[in-house]
Amino acid sequence: MNAPSTSLSLSPRVTVIGAGKVGSTLTQRVVEKNLADVVLLDIVEGLPQGIALDLTQAQGLELHNKKIIGTNDFADTAESDVVVITAGLPRKPGMSREDLLQTNAKIVLAAAKEAIAFSPKAILMLVTNPLDVLTYLAWKATGLPPHRVIGMAGVLDSRRLQTFIALELGVLAADIQAMVLGGHGDLMVPLPRYSTVSGIPITELMDEQTIAKLVDRTRNGGAEIVKLLKTGGAYFAPASSTCLMVEAILHNQSRLLPAAAYLDGQYGLHDIFIGVPCRLGATGVESVLELQLTEAEKNALHTSAESVRENIKMALASLNMS
Ligand code: LAC
Repeated sequence: MNAPSTSLSLSPRVTVIGAGKVGSTLTQRVVEKNLADVVLLDIVEGLPQGIALDLTQAQGLELHNKKIIGTNDFADTAESDVVVITAGLPRKPGMSREDLLQTNAKIVLAAAKEAIAFSPKAILMLVTNPLDVLTYLAWKATGLPPHRVIGMAGVLDSRRLQTFIALELGVLAADIQAMVLGGHGDLMVPLPRYSTVSGIPITELMDEQTIAKLVDRTRNGGAEIVKLLKTGGAYFAPASSTCLMVEAILHNQSRLLPAAAYLDGQYGLHDIFIGVPCRLGATGVESVLELQLTEAEKNALHTSAESVRENIKMALASLNMS
């Protein structure tokens, strides 16, 4: 019989940057699912430390053995397997995700560069808005290979569509698979043809008007919550969506999920990050799946991509990047 391994701390390590509501809820999800130790980093002194201590005190109640480290120092994040960036300002009512661009670009780029310097082998996941643009900028700034950079939005948007279909039909959400492509903005492209209830396309279960209503509610899914909360945006479903992607990477699940991935010709789009179905596993984005789209769906995807590209150009110019 081989001697048992003496190393006890082989837990994977996830860094979460930004100890706001999304970051702290994500930290909670990751440790309570026993997925990884989490280093929670924020620039506000005491905030990540306080959240880490609070979550640690629930460890025995929630029955996990993962460490939570709160810090203001990037050195503590070293050798993480996944780095998730949630830092930045959330939207205020009436603000578009693009309005946040200038402020959040500076925060996110600085954080991405510092974090990757300490964890050069990590997969970098972006959550901060405007999502697709910041994913592109973080890729540029870090110089990581494109498959190791990914943006979380499609999982959230498709789960919102899943929810609205479930509510409309009165069926279990988990029986519904929904697909949403495009940028994480008002121009996102929900795909009813590729959204099913236990394999049955929703186009066979609902009339066009009802589907249009659900699609519209999905497009405005984030804004509806911002309007209700008045300060800040959604965080429970965003954190769950991010956690699902973190798990896909840590457990090398090769899950097929919509996410902002780098395109190099797929869907006729080049040099852009935008929401597409991709396989996500331990190496990051393993491949991008090219769906057969109708002319209208393809046009909608390209319109969404043009808007992302405009914002990328604007941000690159204002940050003196090329
Ligand atoms: C939303 C924010 C996170 O869609 O973009 O709720």
